[in-house]
Parts: sequence; structure tokens; C-alpha cells
Amino acid sequence: MATIGDLLASGTARLRASGSESARLDAELLLGWAVGGSRTAVLAHPEAPVGADAAAAYEAGIVRREAGEPVAYVRGLKEFHGLAFGVDRRALIPRPETELLVSEAEREIAWRLTSAPRPAGTPQVRVIDVGTGSGAIAVALATLLRTRRMLAEVSLLAADCSPEALDLARENAVAHSAADAIVFTEADLVPAAEAPFDVILANLPYIPSAEIDRLPVAASFEPRLALDGGPDGLAIVRRLLEALPATLAPDGVALLEIGFDQGTAVGEAVAALEGEWSCLIQPDLSGNPRLAHVERSIGSEALG
Ligand SMILES: C[S@@+](CC[C@H](N)C(=O)[O-])C[C@H]1O[C@@H](n2cnc3c(N)ncnc32)[C@H](O)[C@@H]1O
Repeated sequence: MATIGDLLASGTARLRASGSESARLDAELLLGWAVGGSRTAVLAHPEAPVGADAAAAYEAGIVRREAGEPVAYVRGLKEFHGLAFGVDRRALIPRPETELLVSEAEREIAWRLTSAPRPAGTPQVRVIDVGTGSGAIAVALATLLRTRRMLAEVSLLAADCSPEALDLARENAVAHSAADAIVFTEADLVPAAEAPFDVILANLPYIPSAEIDRLPVAASFEPRLALDGGPDGLAIVRRLLEALPATLAPDGVALLEIGFDQGTAVGEAVAALEGEWSCLIQPDLSGNPRLAHVERSIGSEALG
């Protein structure tokens, strides 16, 4: 019977040969999944024998990964903001850089709830996650707000134009006991009938169409609808920006994830909006422009 160490070595070699740049990590994650344990457990017991069923599951996973499928789709699981999300081809795999949007959303909402007295009858803070996909942003945010005992004072809408993605998002909300805290709706961007919102969150597709086919093969397993941002990557983001005057509350804020090279273009799109708006571009942990904070006011500057 093969041991964990044997299978890790053979799987790593095969994945490296297939072109994976993270062959060893992929093999560890796939073997942890196949044995029903964790990557850490696998690393701790290289001498342990692997049963026939687990070895067969691992082999199937390696074959899928050799064909380019992301490890997250093979495992059906991706960690995001400390939570395990179910993922499959219905929606984008949540990315680590999007955790910044969740943290900033929590900060914005907490500030609205704590910066002034809220006598009984004060309306909830109205929040929308536009293009919710797997529901990662909305569910992680609901979980954070529940921990801080703020959830009851927030209404949370999660919208997507993909009914398949919405089904997955609902499943993730149920898995994290957040289904009662989030209303899911099929909509093109922000549903006007539900506006205005105090906080608009969006990680919309922002990759230029021509670049999609040049992405690593793993991206070809994700819905094109979740990636394709049109000719310059900003077609959908620009439409959302143009909708802000009608859908964002007077003192509201929109937080938009953007590509590392799109800060200037997004600033220009905000400057072209009707009225006076500000656009602050916040970098991610790698120092790349990542999050646009858009609100009514004057001027445009960069967050350090
Ligand atoms: C980049 S994915 C982000 C998914 C998720 N929010 C996340 O951060 O992992 C973009 C999502 O926007 C959705 N989308 C694309 N165009 C849209 C539109 N016009 N209206 C609403 N949702 C849209 C896609 O279906 C997809 O789920």
C-alpha cells in the first residue's frame, strides 16, 4: 500500500510536468482532501499508508489538476476571510486580495453605527454586494457583523445577474448560518427599486476581454461572465459608477475592487460623473492599487 510520502512525491512530479507552478502545494491539498483530513495532517504523517478509496480519489484529483482545473474546484472548497466556502464552476473562486474589500466594508459599516447616537427607530444601514458570485463578500461580512453584534442594524442585499452563482451563494449563506441575514436577488448591477444604499460593495469583472484567453488555464474553468470586463476591463465597473448618482445615499460610499493598473482610469471615470465625487484608491498588502472608495465630495487623492 502506498504511503502519504509516496503519493505526494509522485503527484508533485506529475503536476510539475503538467505545468503547475504550485505542484507540491497542489498535491498536499489534494491528498489532504482525498484522505478526508487537512494538508497539515498529511504533512505530519508521511509514513502513513493510504487506503484504496483515498488513493483513487487522489488519483482522480491529480488527473483533473493535470488538465488545468483549479485545486479549489477539485476540492469544492476555498478558504476566504477565515471561512470555508463551497466553490464550483457556477462562480469565481474568491481571491485573497478581495479580503481587503470585506475589511473596509466592515470598517465603513461600524463607523456608521458608532459615530453618532442611534435612537430607537433609526433605519438600518443599507448594504449591497453587487456581483456576489459565491457570496464570499456578503457571507464573510455578515459573519463579521454578527460577531460584533451589529448584524441586526444592517440590511444586506446580495445581487448577481447569474442565477447559478446566486444558488451557490445561497448554499454558502446556509452553510455559515447567514441565510437569514442576507437577501439574494437576480439583478443587473444595482436594482433601482431597492436603492438608495449606504454602502455599495462590488468586485465586478475587470479583466480586459483580450487578456482572458492569455490567463493561466485554471481561469478557463471559471465563468467568463465573472472575469470579462469588456475592451478595457472597465465596461461593467463604469456602468456601476454611472449608476451611483441614482443609487448611492447622499452620505454613502461605494467600495469597488479594481485591477492593479486601473486606478487612474477609475479616477477619471469618477471625475466624469454628474456632481462632485471623490475617488480614493487604496493599495492592497502587495502595494498594488486595489480598492476604489467612491463618495460624494470634492477632489481625488490616494490613500497611503
Ligand atoms: C469577479 S466575480 C466576483 C464574485 C465575488 N463577489 C467574489 O469577490 O469572489 C464578478 C461577479 O459579477 C457578476 N456580474 C457580472 N456582470 C454583472 C452585472 N451586469 N450585474 C450583476 N452581476 C454581474 C458575475 O456573475 C460574477 O459573479
